[in-house]
Amino acid sequence: MSASSFPVLIDGQTIARRIQDLARELRVRGDGEPHFIAVLDGARIFADKLLQALGREAGAYDSIQLASYSGTESTGTVRIVKDLGQDVRGKRVVILEDIVDTGRTILALRKLLFERGARSVETLTLLSKPSRRVVEVPLEGVGFEVPDLFVIGFGMDLDGKYRELPYVGVYQADEAERSAV
Ligand code: IMP
Repeated sequence: MSASSFPVLIDGQTIARRIQDLARELRVRGDGEPHFIAVLDGARIFADKLLQALGREAGAYDSIQLASYSGTESTGTVRIVKDLGQDVRGKRVVILEDIVDTGRTILALRKLLFERGARSVETLTLLSKPSRRVVEVPLEGVGFEVPDLFVIGFGMDLDGKYRELPYVGVYQADEAERSAV
């Protein structure tokens, strides 16, 4: 059995359509050229697709790698694994995130960006799990709200695996064990 048999929560076509909506909403909000910051590695695919949808209107792109998860558990502390390459001073920063869970990653990143002089910070996330929120964070764009399930695919991983799945699936240990044989 292959890993592609995880239960599908959101299929690829539905995600593609929603990313077009998010791009349209971002254009309408205006407020200056966005300086995108993708939170790696999870948001890489979402960021690629959103920037493609924006086409020539896309702004500058940078990325940061943060870590807070070990397996399927949030550790509660957020550390920088790879820092930004560019200065954010005076810029309209738009964070691109794969999933907002407890909210701690976005809270820590917003604080860092404001400390470094960003003019404004917005967050676009492909997924949000509102029932898991521990801290309040403003989200200007949410692709889909999802229940409290551990999801994989479309950039999201479990310890580095399953990112390449072209849909958002629900992680089930049984499926993973069967697909490993
Ligand atoms: P937060 O700081 O708890 O909001 O967690 C945000 C990060 O945790 C995301 O960027 C993901 O990397 C990871 N994460 C949270 N929930 C999931 C999930 O269901 N699947 C995969 N990664 C997740």
